[in-house]
Amino acid sequence: MNTCILIIGACGQIGTELTLKLREINGDNAVIASDIREGSKELMKSGPFEFINAMEYDSILNVIEKYKVTDVYLMAAMLSATGEKFPAKAWELNMNSLFNVLNLAKEGKFKKLFWPSSIAVFGPTTPKEYTPQETVMEPSTVYGISKQAGERWCEYYFNKFGVDVRSIRYPGIISWKTNPGGGTTDYAVEIYHNALLIGKYNSFLNKGTKLPMMYMDDAIEATIKIMDANPEDVKIRSSYNLAAMSFTPEEIAEEIKKIVPEFRISYNSDFRQNIADSWPRSIDDSKAREDWGWKHKIDIKKMSEIMLNSLHTKYEEI
Ligand SMILES: NC(=O)c1ccc[n+]([C@@H]2O[C@H](COP(=O)([O-])OP(=O)(O)OC[C@H]3O[C@@H](n4cnc5c(N)ncnc54)[C@H](O)[C@@H]3O)[C@@H](O)[C@H]2O)c1
Repeated sequence: MNTCILIIGACGQIGTELTLKLREINGDNAVIASDIREGSKELMKSGPFEFINAMEYDSILNVIEKYKVTDVYLMAAMLSATGEKFPAKAWELNMNSLFNVLNLAKEGKFKKLFWPSSIAVFGPTTPKEYTPQETVMEPSTVYGISKQAGERWCEYYFNKFGVDVRSIRYPGIISWKTNPGGGTTDYAVEIYHNALLIGKYNSFLNKGTKLPMMYMDDAIEATIKIMDANPEDVKIRSSYNLAAMSFTPEEIAEEIKKIVPEFRISYNSDFRQNIADSWPRSIDDSKAREDWGWKHKIDIKKMSEIMLNSLHTKYEEI
């Protein structure tokens, strides 16, 4: 049976680049993008698109049947900062969308499911440095609670019903193509835009706030790698810790100054500081490295060069 991929929430920060990469690998027509809104021109022009509300079981099923979908990536969710403003909606979206795809997989409508978790599953009582795969998990945000519950349900569906679900706890993801969608690590994207546009940035996280982060290309590679792994190598069916780098706002500012010497950073924290303070500062991802060969490629220096060069070109084209 040919692989046919459906991405739900394809127009977001990660979904956009994941769709483009999977189309490059599998062919444009083998990757169906879907969302409740249209995406970038590049995404919309590069292959099939369907409107799907992840909360509606039947609309997902119709598209799965129409294209004979084999693999589903559920990228639709409400993220940490927005989730704190709309807790009930965040819970409803994050849980119902997951149950829909888990149940469709259980009923044999498709074969393999990717669902992302997050470092938000950890909380204030979790060890902050080099946070282990298995440790105390008492998340304090609605988003984190939904991701932790989601992880438990993924493992349950794997154990009880043999659903081939695979998951990664993404750290903060940094990219230039699509803007981030309301997370606590969004500052690390905004800072590059502001450096080029106005030469300064007022950070909503304080100096010293160190968080685990990853450049988009590494996140996409990890996602595709875990989906391509042999099922027996995916030993953890809740979600894998995943890491690349950790840094503070002042460390990223220093990297920017090497390329934009006049750049200045100031600090004015808001409600997102509390969320950041509850999360790990660094992550032990040795299980992902051992089980399915995960290896990151991009560090803070390389990422800063890519972000500033790519955004510079993008702004010149506008
Ligand atoms: N970006 C990060 O730093 C990060 C970190 C950890 C985990 N994650 C997880 O990765 C996944 C993707 O995150 P992202 O940053 O791309 O999010 P995003 O907010 O940028 O994109 C989410 C997409 O889902 C769509 N969507 C919202 N409600 C929908 C619905 N009912 N039906 C269909 N589509 C709907 C939105 O229109 C949007 O295009 C999420 O599960 C998120 O929790 C992201």
